Amino acid sequence: MVSQTFSRCPALYGRDFVALEDFTSDEIRALLNFAIFLKQEKKAAHSHPLLSGKSVAMYFEKPSNRTRVSFEVGIYDLGAHPIYLRKEEINLGVRETIADTARTLSRYVDGIMIRTFAQSDVEELAQWASVPVINGLTDMHHPCQVMADLMTFQEVFGTFEGKKLTYIGDGNNMAHSLLMGCALVGMDVTITTPSGFEPLPEVVQKATEIGQKTGASILITNNIDAAVRGSHAVYTDVWASMGQESEAEARRAQFKGFQINSHVMSLAVPKAIVLHCLPAHRGEEITADVMETHANTIFEQAENRLHAQKAIMVALMRDPSKA
Ligand code: CP
Ligand code: NVA
Repeated sequence: MVSQTFSRCPALYGRDFVALEDFTSDEIRALLNFAIFLKQEKKAAHSHPLLSGKSVAMYFEKPSNRTRVSFEVGIYDLGAHPIYLRKEEINLGVRETIADTARTLSRYVDGIMIRTFAQSDVEELAQWASVPVINGLTDMHHPCQVMADLMTFQEVFGTFEGKKLTYIGDGNNMAHSLLMGCALVGMDVTITTPSGFEPLPEVVQKATEIGQKTGASILITNNIDAAVRGSHAVYTDVWASMGQESEAEARRAQFKGFQINSHVMSLAVPKAIVLHCLPAHRGEEITADVMETHANTIFEQAENRLHAQKAIMVALMRDPSKA
């Protein structure tokens, strides 16, 4: 039973999961399908301890509800043991070098999930760790979130072909990972931001290159109404991310109008879904009424973190030669 389940898992053993662009379209699609399978199995109360006997460290330098709880529950679901590490304990790059933290943890655990500020710290950790490193959010990327987002879209629409996702708000970690994720699965993606808050040009460039191969079109615009027209999914995120608390007040004025509200939703296709990575700030990036109207999809999306991350962990951490 365990090996039958594992036969559905893409072969990514020993790889890191630090940015979506490290993976092919086929690998991302296979991970999404495996995640959907694991979700069905969990609903049917079929347990799959595919990582039995293993341990996974989870290190957080920023707060978390979804990432912490979904990883911890997912690790237990797979028969493994989670170890939660706070910044005060590890103090990455300060108490000892990142290389020493990586090499030490690799002697104890079978995988490391990290949430921090600099993408380069995650890359350095991954470079020195001999076990897979999973990015649980940096200022640059949030790849696990986008796997859950794509999974949610796939469950609703069944396909990415000919579909369009529009992201409204800050050109931040979510915008970057959505650009990569949508480009990889061949879905058109538009990012609409206030002037001066566009996603990084190198990320847009990379997504455009990927999109040229998969058929996805990439558009960055300051015109929110034009952006949303014809969208199948309308996505937003907080205006001020973790670490930008001192900018929150100024950003409230700068981002005014970059909100999902009923006018914006009237421009999307009639059956369009609303996605939000959460936490949500009602009255800022989304109105309370749109949030509640679309709450079922948004909390399904939150649930899908659990299933998507289980698929990722099995793919990276289970040795196929022992399957
Ligand atoms: N979406 C997300 O990553 O939520 P948390 O910050 O609560 O983990
Ligand atoms: N852009 C947000 C995402 C939270 C999941 C942040 O980094 O705080």
